[in-house]
Amino acid sequence: MENISLEKKHAAVAASQLIKNGMTVGLGTGSTVNYFLDALATRIRQENLKIVGVTTSFKTANRAESLGITIIDIDDAPAIDLTVDGADEVDNRMNGIKGGGAAFLMEKIVAHNSNRVVWIIDSQKRHQQLGRFPLPVEIVPFGSGKLIADFKKRHLHPVLRQQDGKTVVTDMGHFIVDLVLNRIDQPYQLGQYLDSRIGVVEHGLFLGVADEIIIGTSSGVRQLK
Ligand code: 5RP
Repeated sequence: MENISLEKKHAAVAASQLIKNGMTVGLGTGSTVNYFLDALATRIRQENLKIVGVTTSFKTANRAESLGITIIDIDDAPAIDLTVDGADEVDNRMNGIKGGGAAFLMEKIVAHNSNRVVWIIDSQKRHQQLGRFPLPVEIVPFGSGKLIADFKKRHLHPVLRQQDGKTVVTDMGHFIVDLVLNRIDQPYQLGQYLDSRIGVVEHGLFLGVADEIIIGTSSGVRQLK
């Protein structure tokens, strides 16, 4: 197994050990979370755990259900005990950028309704400052050209996300614009600006959201709390 994949797997397996019988678990999205789903499904099977999951994307819901993990609607969950999710970039203050997998709107809603949030990442994703990873912003399709033009004027270097020549549409029916910033000096200020823009549904700055970060290494894990 390639090193990064091994690191992701180590972080995922360590996070699966945090799950206790009876928990409602928020299930993030992405390749690292896929390892977590595998490890969780194994524990459920071997230890006969009664666990339900709240999903952050259709992809995760499909994968979890195919592994035998029961998924319930977020509005039917009295509480989400613990959410395990990935991240694209993490700084020294445990702030992060998420959204590489286009699921950050649902991920943010699930995180904000969770008692505890744990991120699982590989060692390449830690940087002193956020911004190397382009910042995803989810926007309403109507008037998206105007909003993108406005981002350009403000030197936010927006790129409408496309895949196979087609504009990416999120599970909630929106577009994604990636802001190619290289560094973000004032993440809270940028977050406030984006929150205030009509047509912006959500952005991928997750500030003060993670309670714990498990970083996979080639031989095990390190933790940030
Ligand atoms: C999806 C996300 C993912 O958590 C993030 O992209 C990390 O993905 P991976 O585990 O595949 O590196 O934010 O919206």
